[in-house]
Amino acid sequence: MLENALTIADLKRMARRRVPKMFFDYADSGAWTEQTYNANEADFAKILLRQRVLVDMTNRNLATEMIGEPVSMPVALAPTGFCGMQHADGEILAAQAAEAAGVPFCLSTMSICSIEDVAANTKKPFWFQLYVMRDRGFIENLIDRAKAANCAALVMTLDLQILGQRHKDLRNGLSAPPKWTPKHAWQLATRPLWCLQMARTKRHSFGNIVGHASNVGDLSSLASWTKEQFDPRLSWDDVAWIKEKWGGKLILKGILDPDDARRSVDSGADAIIVSNHGGRQLDGARSSIAALPGIVEAVGDRMEVHMDSGVRSGQDILKAVALGAKGVWIGRPFLYGLGAGGKAGVTRCLDILRNELDITMALCGKRDIREIDTDILDRQPGL
Ligand code: GLV
Repeated sequence: MLENALTIADLKRMARRRVPKMFFDYADSGAWTEQTYNANEADFAKILLRQRVLVDMTNRNLATEMIGEPVSMPVALAPTGFCGMQHADGEILAAQAAEAAGVPFCLSTMSICSIEDVAANTKKPFWFQLYVMRDRGFIENLIDRAKAANCAALVMTLDLQILGQRHKDLRNGLSAPPKWTPKHAWQLATRPLWCLQMARTKRHSFGNIVGHASNVGDLSSLASWTKEQFDPRLSWDDVAWIKEKWGGKLILKGILDPDDARRSVDSGADAIIVSNHGGRQLDGARSSIAALPGIVEAVGDRMEVHMDSGVRSGQDILKAVALGAKGVWIGRPFLYGLGAGGKAGVTRCLDILRNELDITMALCGKRDIREIDTDILDRQPGL
């Protein structure tokens, strides 16, 4: 029962029981040794908060803005591939939950439901994430489709032109739709509710690609697809080209180094997301939360800085905001909610995070998220 989920870890346990192993593992994986994947969470735990007492804690506010858009809390649903394989019609359900909660939803290029599907089933403009492929005609078309769907921002991912190896995906033979080997059939047979819900939708493959891109070979496999289609020559000139072609708000995702952050300011983008892709790309890179302060310092107030990777609680969100993140993106937490209980599970995830964020802010003696800064951090020597 979703009401029994008190933490994101509870939702993760529930999702593990409901989602076929290959898709649960896909969401949960990091690259290679998973050093960076683990550091993302572990480094949050090293940051301490200052407990303050005898301050008025009434009338608290979590509402703020991300890239000029009002949000009910500084949280956005990150673009995640295969989202519609955690639960049938997953992207639509997550977008609807985000809309109701007053936070942005960003659709991945590698989503199962298409841009048009999500637009037809939501009222508020969502954001769209772009992977740049070799076929620039396809990319232009994708941007035009995002414009036609009224997407309010484009998130350009910079750190996945070559796929980091995730061992579990290779061992599981991940694909969408799943293959029909005995191993895969067994994984599905042990998750009957998932299968039943999947049988009721037609959305089983990459909705933004199938029927739109020509010369795409083995679409079902992420590894072969990125190798074949993603453009490893992606450069700052392409950022300028995309910015010009899109013409709207642009967010650059995957910045982990202050030099790249300074370069991003010159690109004229509206925001950057400090990210190591949830530890799924460069294993051995530092955690996003450890990278955040240096990047905030490099950028100053010339650009909005957001972050993702490793966020599992409202306390984590508050710590990121204190260190200068104007927006905090969540991927796995909402996917666990989705896997655990569809739209209601995503709502539960957002409720958990909101409640944790609100109470934690109050116990730090603050009433307004817009006033949070490093003052709430306990800078204990040696930590
Ligand atoms: C895609 O974004 C992935 O990390 O698998």
